[in-house]
Amino acid sequence: MKPLIAPSLLSADFCHLAQAIEIVNLSEADWFHLDIMDGVFVPNISFGMPVVNAIKSQAEKPLDVHLMIVQPDRYIAEFKRCGADLLTVHWETCTHLHRTIHQILQADMLAGVSLNPHTPVALLEDIIIDVDLVLIMSVNPGFGGQTFIERSLKRIAELKELIIKNNSNALIEVDGGITLDNAPQLVAAGADVLVAGNAVFGSADPAATIRQLKKESL
Ligand code: DX5
Ligand code: ZN
Repeated sequence: MKPLIAPSLLSADFCHLAQAIEIVNLSEADWFHLDIMDGVFVPNISFGMPVVNAIKSQAEKPLDVHLMIVQPDRYIAEFKRCGADLLTVHWETCTHLHRTIHQILQADMLAGVSLNPHTPVALLEDIIIDVDLVLIMSVNPGFGGQTFIERSLKRIAELKELIIKNNSNALIEVDGGITLDNAPQLVAAGADVLVAGNAVFGSADPAATIRQLKKESL
């Protein structure tokens, strides 16, 4: 099956954000992936609500918002107001993950949970039927342009098994270090959604790269 492609605007030229948004609008991409970092959960700060709001005003595709922040439940309503369609929180930041996921669903967004590379997939056993998406981090979160961690392939396959075993409809999204070279393996392992930052916006022709990411993964 063809994967959904979610270009990460973190790797776009922020001086020309409108251009990057237009490239994604006109491309075969499916979602905008927006990385929100707080400098606490991850050692970097990206952008916040005013920027999400501005992106929403130009975006013609759903906003897939990846929260790399502590206590994400404080901001669920705010991200809904800014235009998030899918809100993903990190397993590592949620003491009451079940409550947080259901707050996101009640706010009328799709709900995702993300795992850092060291967090066992098996820990999702009791939440997998509640989520719309699981985001497997294939780098340590915080920065674009890092190298893909090979073990992620095994984790995607494990997650696929867990989803099937529990009759869950959760999509598997993979984020970090995705290239035209490794995309086909990720899809073969079970990935439904590929996030790509550097591979897309660091390429000479982002729209062509998006098209290839979809095609090469067939
Ligand atoms: C990293 C972010 C990613 C990042 C991916 O913490 O979650 O979404 O933008 O960038 P690339 O594709 O360059 O690894
Ligand atoms: Zn991300």
